[in-house]
Amino acid sequence: MLHSSPTPSTGRVVRDARLDALLDRLHAYAAPRLGRLIAQPRFEAGAYTRLLVDRDVHREVWLLAWSAGQASTIHDHAQQPTATLVLRGQLEEEAFVQVGATVRAVGRRTRGAGDADVDDGHAIHRVTCTSAQAITLHAFAPCYVAGMVFAEPRP
Ligand SMILES: [Fe+2]
Repeated sequence: MLHSSPTPSTGRVVRDARLDALLDRLHAYAAPRLGRLIAQPRFEAGAYTRLLVDRDVHREVWLLAWSAGQASTIHDHAQQPTATLVLRGQLEEEAFVQVGATVRAVGRRTRGAGDADVDDGHAIHRVTCTSAQAITLHAFAPCYVAGMVFAEPRP
């Protein structure tokens, strides 16, 4: 999550060409399909939904649909490079670091439509939908792998 391009949305500095390329491919995938992608998600009351929308030998692309208050676990991405693009809505991302067997919160930020980000798979985070609905698009290289899930840190 800390290697993204110095785009207007993130302002971060690129250090990893592989992550840069993954984000470029995600943008290239999304741009001609934006209308269809935004119309496609299925929102559910219980939890955010995930839909595999494309796959090749290099990456999988997943479309996630979030309703207000729905949140991910606190998780990492199992060292799988990941690129994320917010297509609609607003989400809050909380960042954590591992401390022994638990995690400690180290920051949070808001992401809105058009914001893009990459992660080398080591970051630990939790994402929560803070608008009525949100749609996010994710590229995992070479494929989605369930990461480690962490318990809620003690107050
Ligand atoms: Fe994640």
